[in-house]
Amino acid sequence: MGSGKIVYVLMHKKIPVADVEIDTDDGEILKVCNIHNSEHIPIGVAIENGKINRSDLNKWWIGRSIPASRSGIKEALEILNVSSTTILLERCFGLGLSDQYWINNPKKPLDWDNINFFENSFSEDVGDALFGKVPKATVDLISPDNTSDGWLRKRWIIADGRRILLKGGSGPAYQEPLNEVLASLIMRKLHIPHIEYTLTEIDELPISICEDFITSDTELVSAWNILLTNRKRKNNISLYHHFLNCCETLGIPNMREAIDKMLVLDFLIANVDRHFHNFGAIRDANTLEWIGAAPIFDCGTSMWYDQYTQNIHPSFKIEAKPFRNAHSTQIKLVDDFSWIDFSALEDIDEEFCEIYKPSKYIDENRQRVLLSSLKKRIEILKSEMK
Ligand SMILES: Nc1ncnc2c1ncn2[C@@H]1O[C@H](COP(=O)(O)OP(=O)(O)O)[C@@H](O)[C@H]1O
Ligand SMILES: [Mg+2]
Repeated sequence: MGSGKIVYVLMHKKIPVADVEIDTDDGEILKVCNIHNSEHIPIGVAIENGKINRSDLNKWWIGRSIPASRSGIKEALEILNVSSTTILLERCFGLGLSDQYWINNPKKPLDWDNINFFENSFSEDVGDALFGKVPKATVDLISPDNTSDGWLRKRWIIADGRRILLKGGSGPAYQEPLNEVLASLIMRKLHIPHIEYTLTEIDELPISICEDFITSDTELVSAWNILLTNRKRKNNISLYHHFLNCCETLGIPNMREAIDKMLVLDFLIANVDRHFHNFGAIRDANTLEWIGAAPIFDCGTSMWYDQYTQNIHPSFKIEAKPFRNAHSTQIKLVDDFSWIDFSALEDIDEEFCEIYKPSKYIDENRQRVLLSSLKKRIEILKSEMK
């Protein structure tokens, strides 16, 4: 493995954005040399006196790599014979399936049309390694799995020409994939724009399946990056209003309505991990025009997924993110509940059982407690509205 530095061009599809010097030993951006196009700099990266803040761009870049906390990552790196997730990032030119940024080596330039994962196939080796499988003799690292966020085991595959994300759960209940399906069901009933999740199994463990909601012409910008566009929150402005102000300044339409729907969903399913990387907005990657809130995804950390059955108490204080630390106070940020059709949730029992019953990691008692807890949350929400 050659040690040293390479000056790459940070690209946004076919548009050169800036020249960046990258340390090939650890994948970090050491220097930003030239800006070619300031409009296409990633959202939330600061520009001061016409210069890109190096540390900001580096954080954004390193943030594209698989987090060190990812389940099974140590074993996967061993299988792939790569020292870190940031090196993986450089080896796949930072290409992903959630946005359109990448790096191009001017000495061996590549063409976007031939390498983007939306229109070209990719290697299965990294995904295999992430699921503990040893790939064939020579490993191909060109995969969107190198830029996927989150700590749950996951991989992208292509099925019938569509890009599909497979995502696992955590023991002992392996409930996250099932919770994704429940959240889809509730959002379908309440007409909340969302990603549809279904179920499969890998090695006898439940896995959720969803389709890429980004195309080669759009991109996901996380709420975190939106928040970084204004880092000076006044003391008298709540984080909720500050975030909505950031969206308004950027010109992202209809965010309040979308956020409020997300807070209602999270209240119902007792989601404890809606951090600022678990929602966001979509923009047109060519015109940079904002399309609106991203459909709701990543709802697995809900329904007491990590709690023993005897510790499930739907009316006790439930931790919340991102605006308040408890759902009981976070729900008070929502001022319009008129759109909620509670009658649509009345006959949920059968569909609920269809999701949880087949799992061998959830016994009948837990299934019963989960259903009654969801119903209790619905009742509590009703009483909140009075
Ligand atoms: N269907 C999708 N289409 C495009 N990008 C997605 C999709 N689902 C997830 N992502 C991206 O992948 C990241 C990780 O997925 P997520 O579902 O949040 O996993 P985790 O539960 O491990 O946090 C998300 O933050 C988002 O950037
Ligand atoms: Mg996530």
